[in-house]
Amino acid sequence: MTTEPLWYQNAIFYEVNVRAFYDSNADGHGDLPGLIEKLDYLKDLGVNCIWVMPIYDSPLRDDGYDISDFLKIQAVFGNVQDFRRLIEEAHARGIRIITDMIMNHTSDQHPWFQAARSDPNSPYRDFYVWSDTREKYSDARIIFLDTEESNWSWDEKAQQYYWHRFYASQPDLNYDNPAVRQAMLDIMKFWLDMGIDGFRADAVPYLIEREGTNCENLPETHAILKEVRTFIDKNYPGRILLAEANQWPKDVLEYFGNSDEFHMGFHFPVMPRIFMALRKADRSSLVWILEQTPPIPKNCQWCTFLRNHDELTLEMVTEEERQWMWQQYAPDPRMRLNLGIRRRQAPLLENDPALIRLANVLLFSLPGTPIIYYGDEIGMGDNIWLFDRNGVRTPMQWDKTANAGFSSAAPDKLYASVIEQDPYGLQIVNVEDQLADPNSLFNFFKRLIEIRKANPAFSIGNLTWLDVTDPGVVAISRVYEGQTLVILLNLSLDTKNLHLQIPNVYGAPLDLWNNQFRMDWNDGKIDCQLTARQYIWLKFTG
Ligand code: NOJ
Repeated sequence: MTTEPLWYQNAIFYEVNVRAFYDSNADGHGDLPGLIEKLDYLKDLGVNCIWVMPIYDSPLRDDGYDISDFLKIQAVFGNVQDFRRLIEEAHARGIRIITDMIMNHTSDQHPWFQAARSDPNSPYRDFYVWSDTREKYSDARIIFLDTEESNWSWDEKAQQYYWHRFYASQPDLNYDNPAVRQAMLDIMKFWLDMGIDGFRADAVPYLIEREGTNCENLPETHAILKEVRTFIDKNYPGRILLAEANQWPKDVLEYFGNSDEFHMGFHFPVMPRIFMALRKADRSSLVWILEQTPPIPKNCQWCTFLRNHDELTLEMVTEEERQWMWQQYAPDPRMRLNLGIRRRQAPLLENDPALIRLANVLLFSLPGTPIIYYGDEIGMGDNIWLFDRNGVRTPMQWDKTANAGFSSAAPDKLYASVIEQDPYGLQIVNVEDQLADPNSLFNFFKRLIEIRKANPAFSIGNLTWLDVTDPGVVAISRVYEGQTLVILLNLSLDTKNLHLQIPNVYGAPLDLWNNQFRMDWNDGKIDCQLTARQYIWLKFTG
């Protein structure tokens, strides 16, 4: 595996829900040995870092984002030895592993909380945030709007209210307490010593509360995160921290610090704007958000995505845009959840192969390291009738056999039903068929990843919008170390004529998708026609 310290800047991430991926022991739940068995599949796809969703002990009130023991693996997933083996086997294939680290809160079943609520004199009492009234921190918004009425819940045992930014079953830790900060470092040390390559740090904006603020992105929170980074740099160079901060780019910028906080941060606001641009056949919202995106420190990187395990969040759009997105992409109220949309990529994009491909080419054309959500590489569907966000977490569809080859347990033993209804049912959407079909979505993704990895200008090159007046066209250049990539996409269903002169490029460009030189576009003089939803990626090396 590469020892390149900036490996994360030009990587392809893949988000895995272990429970949903592959069941090795026929108990109806995916597990770590199952994921190990499928590593060759992921290697073949070409991804080189897996983000493993929470695998720790948990009562599963928030699918593992409610941890009751940070050092133990849920029995259905296997054990610490399995996890160690996963790291070794992944590394042997040149794939890195990062895991979720849920810093902000624990489960209410965690022994810390149990001790805290039972005894006011327990050293753990001060691990959480308590109050006699619900009046404090009233400027903090509620995140899980559909289920929570307040960020305070009454605890009978403690006879006080406790603070929680998510479900009431997820009490927030008190980061003003140095013992909490130390406990979290000890937990990270445990997993880093095992060899993991970093953490996707969950919900980091909310670590600290202060009266009179919205309790997000506070300077004290950044100071704590910088302590974590110092600890990593000192003891585990080359490992990374990825910030889950669903905020505006200027606020996420603070999480990169002066290259002394996070290595990576999700770019949340760009995601809904890709969907807007596609549906409107108009690039304007995308241009706007990229203009709002400040340069980041040299050693940092954005993480970009179209979908993940949560609802497609519409927190970073205006009220008007949100209504429009709901109207366009979630016409059935059942598709909506909190401030978002609980659907997968393929159904959102009308299961239209040209549109799905264009959306991903667009994502992969932008700065940042892209993340693929498991199953999206084969165009899996969703089940909006399942509770909360479970509809986008259904079993991976490996083949056409019973349970889509995900598990050999009886169907009623599965943690969730496999999608069976057309057009997303296992008969139509499955890995086996797509591996065998050179024109499948899987093989498209494989090529997309291959091209992208071979051309670092995609991930870190300077981005310039080329001079094209038609808003239905995305025309950009990405320049890095003597390489100029030219990206031409037609968002619309109409044919577009383009006449461009790309500055400072010489010779004939290579068309990266068909691997042929375009002699007719010598020295950057491009005259072309883009058919409906067509995309072209060119490379000038002169
Ligand atoms: C963000 C995670 O992505 C989400 O799934 C979870 O519910 C919340 N954080 C709370 O941990």
